[in-house]
Order: sequence, then C-alpha cells, then structure tokens
Amino acid sequence: MVTLTIDGKQIIVEEGTTILKAAEKLGIEIPTFCYHDQLETVGACRMCLVEVEKIPKLQVACATVVSEGMVVRTDSPQVVNARKGVLEFLLINHPLDCPVCDKGGECELQNLVFKYGSDKSRFVEGKRRYIVDPKSKYDDLAIGPHIIRNMNRCIQCRKCVRFINEIAGEDDLGTFKRGSKTEINILPDIPIDNPYSGNVTEICPVGALTSKSFRYKIRVWQTEAIPTVCPQCADGCNIRIWKKDERIYRITSRRNDEVDEGFLCDKGRFGFDFVNHPDRLKNPLIKKNGKLSEAPWDETIKFVTSSFMKIKGETGSDSLAGVGSGKVTNEDNYLFQKFFRSVIGTNNIDHRVDSKNLLPSPDTQIRNKYFGMKNTINQIANSKLILVLGCDLEKEHPIINLRVIKARRKGSSILVANPVSTRLNRFAQNGLLYKQRTETDFLNGVLREIIETKQYDNAKSGFSSSEIEDLRRKVSSSDSLKALQTTGIGAENIKSFVNALVKAESIIILCGAEIISNPKNVEIINSLYDLIRLTGHQDKDNSGVNLLWKHSNSQGTLDCGILPDRLPGYVRISGKPGLNFNLMLEAVNQGKIKAMYIMGSDPLSEYPDREYVKSTLGKLEILLVQDILITETAKIANVILPGASFAEKEGTFTNVEGRVQKLNKAFDPLADSKADGQIICLLAQAMGHEFEYRTPKDIFKELTGVSPIYSGMDWETLGLSKKQGKVK
Ligand code: SF4
Ligand code: SF4
Ligand code: FES
Repeated sequence: MVTLTIDGKQIIVEEGTTILKAAEKLGIEIPTFCYHDQLETVGACRMCLVEVEKIPKLQVACATVVSEGMVVRTDSPQVVNARKGVLEFLLINHPLDCPVCDKGGECELQNLVFKYGSDKSRFVEGKRRYIVDPKSKYDDLAIGPHIIRNMNRCIQCRKCVRFINEIAGEDDLGTFKRGSKTEINILPDIPIDNPYSGNVTEICPVGALTSKSFRYKIRVWQTEAIPTVCPQCADGCNIRIWKKDERIYRITSRRNDEVDEGFLCDKGRFGFDFVNHPDRLKNPLIKKNGKLSEAPWDETIKFVTSSFMKIKGETGSDSLAGVGSGKVTNEDNYLFQKFFRSVIGTNNIDHRVDSKNLLPSPDTQIRNKYFGMKNTINQIANSKLILVLGCDLEKEHPIINLRVIKARRKGSSILVANPVSTRLNRFAQNGLLYKQRTETDFLNGVLREIIETKQYDNAKSGFSSSEIEDLRRKVSSSDSLKALQTTGIGAENIKSFVNALVKAESIIILCGAEIISNPKNVEIINSLYDLIRLTGHQDKDNSGVNLLWKHSNSQGTLDCGILPDRLPGYVRISGKPGLNFNLMLEAVNQGKIKAMYIMGSDPLSEYPDREYVKSTLGKLEILLVQDILITETAKIANVILPGASFAEKEGTFTNVEGRVQKLNKAFDPLADSKADGQIICLLAQAMGHEFEYRTPKDIFKELTGVSPIYSGMDWETLGLSKKQGKVK
C-alpha cells in the first residue's frame, strides 16, 4: 500500500494506482479528455496535468503512478494555468459551433472550457478546416450507416479509434495523416459498420462523431432520460431512453460493470424504431366476415371471455392453450400462467415456439444444467479458456462477445466450433468447422482423445474408474469412430483442440441457439459436462457450461413457469402436465385444442415449419394474439389485442445470467393499447376472478412469494440483489 497526499488530504491506495484514481477516491475531480478506464491509457491530451512535489514539470494524472510520500496539488496556480493553456490550444482550431452542434449541452469540451477555460482568446488567425465538399459550408461526412463525422470538432483524443481497436476488436476506424492534418477516418469506401459502431458517438467527448438517427432532431436538454433495460437480446444491457412526450429520440448506455461495462451493440442502441412505428396496434381488432376491424375494449373482452367460457364449458379446460413470450416481462408472464392455471384451469402453457427439440424441465426447484448460465457475464473475461460452441456470439449475444474479446486481450485462449465460420473466429486460437448436426460425434472425438491419451484429471474429475471405463467404451466404439469421420474435422485438429483444453486452468463453455434447438441437445450438454469434469473444472467458479437463451426475458419466462410441467420457480406440477407447443399443434390438428391465446410471440415467424404452424393455427376456433405490431401470426388471428412496448411499462426482465433487472416506464401506452399484464387482468376479471394488482410491483411481490428462486428479492433494490453487482 502507498500513502500520499492530494490537495492536503492523505490517502492510502494500492501500489500501481494512478494519481487520477487516487484523487477520484478522495472525491477530487481532475478533468480529462483522452482517459477512459476501459481503454489503454495514452496520456495524450494533457488535460489532467497536476503538480507533484519535487518534480519540476507538471505530470499527467491519468498515467502517473503514485509513490510513497507523494504530495500532489490539483489546484495550484501552475495547474490552473496549464489547464487554461490546454483548453486555449484546443480552441484554436475548434469551430465553436455549439449552437448547431449535436453535442451541445453534453459536450465535455464545452463543460471544461466553462469550468476551467479562459474567457479570452488570443488567437486571431483563421481556423483549420477539413473540407469535405468545397460546395458546402458544412463539413459533415457519413462514415458509416450510423455515424456522421465532423473533423473540425475533433480534439484528437483517439478514444474512438482505441475503442474500435481494443474493445470491439475491429479496425474500421483509424488515425490518418500527421501533425495538424491528423484526422480520424475510415479507409476509402470501407464504412465503419461493425456491430458496436454507435459507441463512438457516446465515447467521443465532443461533437466530432454523432449519430445519424439522433442528430438535429432535438436538443438534448429538451429530452428526459429514463433508466431501463435493453429489450433486444438476453444480455440485458442497462440503457437510458431519451424521450420527449411519447417518442424515443435515442438510447444510450447506463453503465453497469457487471453486465455491459458501459457499451451497447448497435441493435440495442439504434433498434428502437418499433416503439415509434406508425403501424403500431392502437385498438383491439376482431375479425368479422374475414376482415379485422377495430372494436372497443369492452366488446372485445366480452367476445374473448365468452368464447373461452363456451369452449371450456363444451369441451373442457384443456381445449384451451396459452403461449407466453421471452420478450415480455416477468410480471406479464407470471400473470399469464396464473390466468391459464387458475382461471382457465389448464397447464397447456409454453413459450418455446422456435424449436421442435425442447430441453427437459429441471427436476429440482432450482435452475439446473439445462436452464441457463452457470457463470456470470463478468466471469467470462476471467476464464483462461473459452469454448464457444454452436453459437454466432457476435450476432446472438453482442455484449458477451465483447467479454470474450476482452478475455483474449488478457491472454485467454478462445476455441470456436461451429457449423459455419463466425466473426469471432478471427480471435480464436482454434476455430473448427464441423458439419451441421455432428456436434455429438465431434465431442465424442474430443472426449475419446482425452481418455485414450490419459490426459484427464483423475483426482479432480470425481469420476470413478468404472465411470471412466463406461465413458471410454461409449466414445471409443467403432460406431463413434466412424461417426467422427462425418464431422469433417481431422484427427490432428481434435488433438490440438484437446491440447488447449487439458492445459487450461479454467474453462467456460458458451452454447448458443444451434445447441439449444439441436435434436441431440441433451446428449451434447451431457458431453460438455463430461468434458468439464474430465478436465477437473467442475467445482471452479470461473468454469462451467452455459446455455445462452435468445430473448431479453427468456430466462425469466422459464423462471415464471411458462412451461407445461412446471410452476413458477420450477416447482413440479402435482396433477397432469399440460402440452408443450409442439404437442399443442398436434392437439389442434386432432381437434382437441380449439382456442389459443398467444402473448408477445410470433410462431409463424419463429417455428421451423411455417406452413405447418400456419395451417394448424388456422384450424382454431379462436386465435387471440396480443402484440404491439401486426405480426405474421396476428395476421391469421380472429382477435388482436394491442399490447404496450417495453418503453411503456414497468416490470422486470431476467437476463441470460439470471440477473433480475427493472424496466421503467418512459411514457404511457400508445393510443388505446394497454400493458400486457393489465389486459390479462381485464380478461380474468371478466371471467369472475379477482385479479386486482395496482402496479407491477404488486405482481412481483406475489411472484417472490410463490417462486423459491425469486424469494427474498425486493423491488426497491432490484439490480443489487442475487448474483448482482452494483448498478451505477
Ligand atoms: Fe476523440 Fe472524437 Fe476526435 Fe475520436 S473523433 S479522436 S473520440 S474527439
Ligand atoms: Fe441490447 Fe443485447 Fe445489444 Fe446489449 S447486447 S445492447 S442487451 S441487444
Ligand atoms: Fe490524462 Fe488525457 S486525460 S493526458
């Protein structure tokens, strides 16, 4: 530990701490431009200069490491003058076009000049200008689908280029030319078009890089920022919605180091058009004479509930079925299953509409190996080896992908095995391509190599010798040797793959959609558990097998009991289990199911056999779809109820690692649409049941009371409980 004094205050910090970090701990602000705690420090802008006793020249606080007895001044006349000087130099060429700059109101240069700068300029010469088009007086240049560059405003901090290179692992933005002509640019005709490009608009301290979708739409101070959670994938990045009235203008990150480390993918940042979409459903629709026409809520609720009651009365509760969704909140899903179980009286409930190959439900009351992630997102970057199997990680889980790139940067080994090459292969020490659906043969080959060459960890594996013998027999049979040929992976590749696996101090395995929906999903997952055990990592925190669900609340949907054989918290159903979605379709074809209520799912777009699902659902007496847009499934429905988007409701999503995070309402549901939970309550009440909840908080409270895995969670402190870290 090191003791030092900053502005007369003593502090003890760890060796290797910089002056900037030590000052931060004391609550002393040192202004910076080029520093970013996730990027390599370059000490380029000199904004953070401080005075250190016994050192004649001022030092950069961001790159100077503390030493015992150091005495630092951050506010001496020399420091104040130096800051003024740095800012004066930066303003020499800065256009000072704040009134028309999109960064106005949140620009670090504007703010620091206001706080530390001089009120006079001694510069009388003309300013440097980067002319993009001699015919135009503006120098804006689109350098990618989302990014506009105005080089006149750039202060050369290089945070943008460093983010793209270091964090995103891309190279589609760079620094060109030298001296006063230095510019940030793309290569000719190669736009910045990586899935993380939007982060540069947030990381740029000035208005040099701005986003196409937000610029010139509104001044930032006219908007209000609402903290919430991204609805686009299961990673659960924390975001801010910037809104005015009932419109979203932009989305930015809301840094949570346990989840997103302050970065978003472009899908999350820019993909909010659906909320403001002109085709949003605004009123209930009922099909009359083959045509969907608007109807008032009371008429629609009456029509739906009387149809449900008639079917229930005539052919029984099991003639109805419900399909929930990984895209709506825990509270909506909880009420949905409660509606089906307690009002309709059936367990015909599911949400897995995208696969014919379903994983078994857990046998215990806690999530077991077929249900989600064993590790946290943060542990990924600390594992010594990461195996990505059957997953296009960049597309399916962009922020987890960044953690894998981070692990690579820290020296971890990355192994990727997929039926097709993915962009992550660029970082892989070993990137294998196997023929589709040969995962089990490939994994048997890997296990065989470990066992036959005796590279397994006998002591730590926990396998008895007879278990090892059984496994050896299974993976060394002539059938499995023959099957290995079909994978397209040669013996040498298996050897080098195994070589990396057995040497690793920890192994995290990430499996994506290709594994979850695989006909042999259970066998594959069991083989991966065997692999973790054989290599002796089963009891380690930073090792394990992880299934990465698809939707923002896929994990929560499972947790809340949108399963035909489990109640919330995976509590086993005491009576007869219901039908899963595949069996529901069969039952519709057999005339046994006559009505289906689909909330937030679109089986026609997601199910592997669209025509089959279309013709099957077409046979229903009542197909009720509740959604925010006319989906493919909604087009064939008899009744459509307009739900609210994620921006229009409160509730919780449980992300891929089991972190329960709160959504906040930015504005009221559009026109006459309603939050999903509210619609379910209306239906239940019309059927004579007391579904009285004032807010989603009440529903969440009930959920924590009935679900063992959510028990003890508190609405007010969500984001701080369970596996959760501190939300900033
Ligand atoms: Fe820094 Fe922005 Fe210039 Fe990039 S464009 S170097 S982030 S000021
Ligand atoms: Fe949203 Fe997923 Fe992108 Fe994060 S990684 S911003 S949760 S889509
Ligand atoms: Fe320290 Fe730029 S912030 S030199």
